[in-house]
Amino acid sequence: MYKKLLVALFGMAMATGAQAALADMHAEMNDGCESCHAEGMPSEDGAFEMEQCAMCHGALNEMEGAHPAHDGLMECSDCHQLHEHEAATEVTCDACHDDGRK
Ligand code: HEC
Ligand code: HEC
Ligand code: HEC
Ligand code: HEC
Repeated sequence: MYKKLLVALFGMAMATGAQAALADMHAEMNDGCESCHAEGMPSEDGAFEMEQCAMCHGALNEMEGAHPAHDGLMECSDCHQLHEHEAATEVTCDACHDDGRK
């Protein structure tokens, strides 16, 4: 609950948006690299990182839009490449689906 409240509060503060990699944007507003990586080091399988995403944003089946359809099938970082995408990068469906969906 506490983390979800923080997400709501920071959401308002971040509404203007900054052009930084998603990971850096997160590191700046929270506890640096440790907001996603245990002791700041990436895990082998990404499970720890996914757990951190879900603690702040909710699990895939609790989210809106394209999220619930992918519950149990993939991790957040399959679509949101934290160190490559800038904040506000739009994830496109046709990276994986070739039937024209958006
Ligand atoms: C918002 C969560 C988040 C934050 C904050 C974050 N990372 Fe990551 N990082 C990830 C995820 C998820 C992966 C694995 C897949 C990927 O690259 O998206 C990753 C992968 C990595 C990797 C493996 C190589 C790579 O680029 O794929 C390194 C090294 C790394 N992070 C270092 C850092 C450092 C150093 C910081 C602090 C400046 C940091 N991360 C902050 C989520 C985060
Ligand atoms: C199948 C690709 C996909 C996966 C997997 C995915 N996302 Fe997303 N995400 C999107 C798309 C597309 C959007 C743009 C708006 C929408 O459709 O909801 C988005 C938007 C967002 C947003 C910003 C808008 C909002 O709803 O607040 C957040 C935060 C987010 N995703 C977090 C996550 C987290 C956390 C996970 C893992 C638990 C995740 N996403 C997994 C595709 C994905
Ligand atoms: C400590 C809490 C926290 C963690 C952990 C966290 N986030 Fe976030 N995230 C936020 C907040 C706060 C925002 C800004 C408000 C918003 O857009 O919901 C945000 C924004 C986002 C956005 C939208 C950024 C934009 O403006 O385009 C995406 C996508 C996202 N997070 C994905 C992830 C993913 C994927 C992970 C795990 C690798 C993750 N977050 C981990 C708190 C967190
Ligand atoms: C990282 C790859 C990836 C991305 C990006 C992605 N999907 Fe998917 N999606 C999958 C996979 C894998 C499945 C499960 C197998 C299948 O049904 O094709 C799936 C299943 C689905 C399903 C349920 C089954 C079906 O085929 O109807 C829906 C709905 C869906 N995706 C919508 C979207 C939408 C909308 C977007 C863009 C916002 C999107 N996906 C982006 C990989 C992805």
